[in-house]
Amino acid sequence: MESMPVFLTIETTCDETAAALVTDQLQVLASVVASQDQLHQQYGGVVPEIASRAHVERILPVIHETIQRAGINLTDIDAVAVAYTPGLAGSLLVGVTAAKTLALALGKPLIGINHLQAHIYACRMAAGKDVFPCVGLVVSGGHTCLYRCRDPLDFELMGTTIDDAAGEAFDKVAAMLGLPYPGGPSIQRAAEKGNPHKYAFPRALLDDPNTLDFSFSGLKTAVRYAITGPGRHDPTQVKLSDQKVADLAASFQEAVVDCLVGKSFRALEITGFQRLCVGGGVAANKRLRTRLEEEATRRNVELVIAPLKLCTDNAVMGAIAVEKWKAGMFDDLYLDAEPGVVRRPLPVGSG
Ligand code: KG4
Ligand code: ZN
Repeated sequence: MESMPVFLTIETTCDETAAALVTDQLQVLASVVASQDQLHQQYGGVVPEIASRAHVERILPVIHETIQRAGINLTDIDAVAVAYTPGLAGSLLVGVTAAKTLALALGKPLIGINHLQAHIYACRMAAGKDVFPCVGLVVSGGHTCLYRCRDPLDFELMGTTIDDAAGEAFDKVAAMLGLPYPGGPSIQRAAEKGNPHKYAFPRALLDDPNTLDFSFSGLKTAVRYAITGPGRHDPTQVKLSDQKVADLAASFQEAVVDCLVGKSFRALEITGFQRLCVGGGVAANKRLRTRLEEEATRRNVELVIAPLKLCTDNAVMGAIAVEKWKAGMFDDLYLDAEPGVVRRPLPVGSG
């Protein structure tokens, strides 16, 4: 192995246990992702305690496998990076503890990374060239965030969901429609045979020029009432024809996509940036990708969407640690898991 610095990156924020080895030139030496989808499928969503236990079982085998695939030794690692925020508390703890232990044992620097910023950095990895400055849209199971990304280390939150994340809405609506977890791919598949204009679902906040925030909770309720009618019926007990499922899925998907596309291009107008980078599991959605491509072409904006395996959680995107390393930004062993997403501070006097 030549003397190029090698970074081990660890990702355990939600339900994927992942590790990767990347060089300071952003070359990927190996990447391993152990998905827990099967463990959570029967519950229709991620069960945090099951997720953390599975991370405990998998973290060491995943790291070993990554090192083996790269054909290097543990001692060849020059820095250990880990996503420490945001995510599920128990899940984050496993990765953070593994990273701190390795950094201590190897006597190498530790670098904490923000999982949402890493999702945008997946676009940098995919593009193979600088993608900053850009507007960054992260659409995942837990988050829906728009950032003004001035450079890889300067992210300013411009808008976020005030209730459900986009992916969460996909997962919950899929459950209502009796479609399997994870809901995103199931809805996408069902929507292929559906009419996206059959149901006029709400596009909350889309036409509000004063905010780049999102809201998907009302949309979810609207789908529920389209299934059950008024009242407190259990949507999963209602027998729906395949066509109705397809139409509901397509109309729901279209509403989410309208909001994501509308606000992203509004953010581009506000920032004056000419590039949009999109990451997170929902960025795998075909309809969203098509609509973003159409709009980007129309407005002459450069669009970078990570390929599917870099959209969903992975450790390659943790290569954002290389930027921190170059800037001399290291962490010490007090680095802790920080589950919550940092939202804008409340206005003064709001309690
Ligand atoms: O980024 P990710 O792997 O994990 C989190 O950090 O949350 O995102 C997972 C989310 C799930 O909600 C899943 O339903 C959604 O991404 N997803 C999709 C698609 N593939 C995955 N949503 C819409 N369309 C898809 N094709
Ligand atoms: Zn994620």
